[in-house]
Amino acid sequence: MKLVTCGLPYANGKAHIGHLRTYVPADVYVRYLRMLGEDVVFVCGSDCHGTPIVVNAEQQGLTPKQLVDIYHEHFKKIFAELDIEFDYYGRTDAEYHHHRTKEIVKRLIEKGYVYPKDIDLAYCPKCERFLPDRYVEGICPYCGATARGDECDQGCGRHLEPGEIKEPKCKICGSKAEFRSQKHYFFKLTEFKDFLEDYLSKLRGTENALNYAKNWVKNLRDWCITRNLEWGVSFPGEENLVVYVWVDAPIGYISFTEKACENKGCDWKEIWIHGSCEIIHFIGLDIVYHHCIFWPAMLKGADYALPSAVVASGMVKVEGKTFSKSRGYVVWVEDDYLKAGLSPDYLRYYIVNYTSHQKDLNFSWEVFRDKVNNEIIATLGNFLYRVLLFAWKNFGEVKMDDVDGEILQKISEAKEKIENAIEEWEFKVTSDAFMELATFGNVYFQNAKPWELIKTDKEVAGRVVASCLQLAKALIIFAYPVMPRSMAKMAEAVGLDIKACKLEDAVKVDEVVSLKKPQVPFEKIEDEKLDELQEIMEKRFRGEEVGEVGDTKEEITIEDFQRLDIRIGKIVSAEKVKGSKKLIKLIIDIGDEHRQIVSGIAEDYKPEELEGKLVVVLANLKPAKFMGVESRGMILAAEKDGKAILLTLEKDVEPGTRVC
Ligand code: 2FM
Ligand code: ZN
Repeated sequence: MKLVTCGLPYANGKAHIGHLRTYVPADVYVRYLRMLGEDVVFVCGSDCHGTPIVVNAEQQGLTPKQLVDIYHEHFKKIFAELDIEFDYYGRTDAEYHHHRTKEIVKRLIEKGYVYPKDIDLAYCPKCERFLPDRYVEGICPYCGATARGDECDQGCGRHLEPGEIKEPKCKICGSKAEFRSQKHYFFKLTEFKDFLEDYLSKLRGTENALNYAKNWVKNLRDWCITRNLEWGVSFPGEENLVVYVWVDAPIGYISFTEKACENKGCDWKEIWIHGSCEIIHFIGLDIVYHHCIFWPAMLKGADYALPSAVVASGMVKVEGKTFSKSRGYVVWVEDDYLKAGLSPDYLRYYIVNYTSHQKDLNFSWEVFRDKVNNEIIATLGNFLYRVLLFAWKNFGEVKMDDVDGEILQKISEAKEKIENAIEEWEFKVTSDAFMELATFGNVYFQNAKPWELIKTDKEVAGRVVASCLQLAKALIIFAYPVMPRSMAKMAEAVGLDIKACKLEDAVKVDEVVSLKKPQVPFEKIEDEKLDELQEIMEKRFRGEEVGEVGDTKEEITIEDFQRLDIRIGKIVSAEKVKGSKKLIKLIIDIGDEHRQIVSGIAEDYKPEELEGKLVVVLANLKPAKFMGVESRGMILAAEKDGKAILLTLEKDVEPGTRVC
């Protein structure tokens, strides 16, 4: 048996493509393992604790539990819609999870691996509280970059221990924090150095994870495992402390396995105590330290079984830019993708096939369109649909007694390639293998011309069709883990029980195949659709649509507001930007100058309607170029049913009048 886990998403925000970079390949892996006859338990769940959740809930006027409930349900829905099927999807605020965490922490205490120590921590005198992790912002002691309490997120990326940050400021009220002493508990990580060195030399997984970890193990420090929070798993014997979120989150892998095993009728202890199964963690590259250093040391200290492999996915870029929610370089799974009516299989294929699992993945709608139209549809879809439709129309039932040896040979080769690639977590290679097979199939069908043969020799045509059907069956089986929804549809047409299929069934030849009318497997991405998808993204890049619909944004001070130069402007001239359907170039009188601003309203307003209009202008927005045209500012508009509606004035005022 194998256990496969995925890093737990924080139940603190919506799912984006960065999340899927880990979950889709893990789901693909599990599906292939099962098709190879392996017994697999696959678990994940929401990470419900930690300061980001507490801070975010506070800002939105919710309790942490209310916030977590919203996003836990959101993630469950997204996973279901993307066909990512966990045996158990738990949550770390559940009672069973607290129970397992306390049991492990108590055991570490009993075994002498935890000790108390007074440390100086950031304290906000105004809010009258200690400031754990994300409650505090300051300067990284290692590289001098602006950092948050637990991580130098904008500089060297180091994990920061409580009290390490320099010049701390309270994130809630902005006051300068002071340092005050308080008792916390430390895990003796340094005692695990030899163990970790040996363990890491045997650990399997992707090179990116293993190389980092082997470097880090040289410099270990004991690890502070408590925090001053009310939300979390309480630390045994200390009412005012909870365990650090990075202690309890990975324990979710154990507590969710317990739950999965209850449902599946297996024994979780076989996996986590007796160590008789392989444990494979799929994670993002940013959490390698936690999985390769903290986690195995904790497991070892508490006498639990150790993970066999850590598989880390590369990072995600959006249209070539480093992924950033605040800058708009993000693709939201629900709002941008699913609501656009796109098949989950397209995104699954893109994620798996774009590049090697360890490398950075760039998401671009144009590449997406090309992959869908040229690979999924023109190669795989074309072969399957053509063959199945031809066979159904002309034969209905096909005798399979004379399948071409060359076809069987090609199928065997592809199968071997897939099996080897799975061993190495090279999912791109698996998807390339079935696409190459489909390309071969198209050439075979085209050269054999069964539509001509059938007019003269139905028997020979039947043999060609049988060979192509065997290939179609193999393709459906091989592509199913990547594109389960569409391949299940195709499987119906050839009477294949795809859920019960194994990879080796691809080389087994049935006596007869009875066909049903096939459905068109895929829908093309038209140019208009591509435009729509790109426009949403470009709007976000321009800062015209930030945040999430209905979201409450963080509170700002009046000084923050006063930094905005908002004025009334009068549109002097307007003309469409050449080559763009959406953009309009405006010259606006803003009092002391005529300003050029590019706005994405060309579909909602004609240039002649705009001239002479009074509009509200954000005048001190950083300049940007759109289709090569400079824009210095932004005009404000509301959005209704996807259309822009300009903000204007109740009474006329002079251009340049300030809005305050
Ligand atoms: O970085 C994150 O998003 C964490 N919520 C991952 C936790 S993974 C595991 F350790 F539980
Ligand atoms: Zn740093």
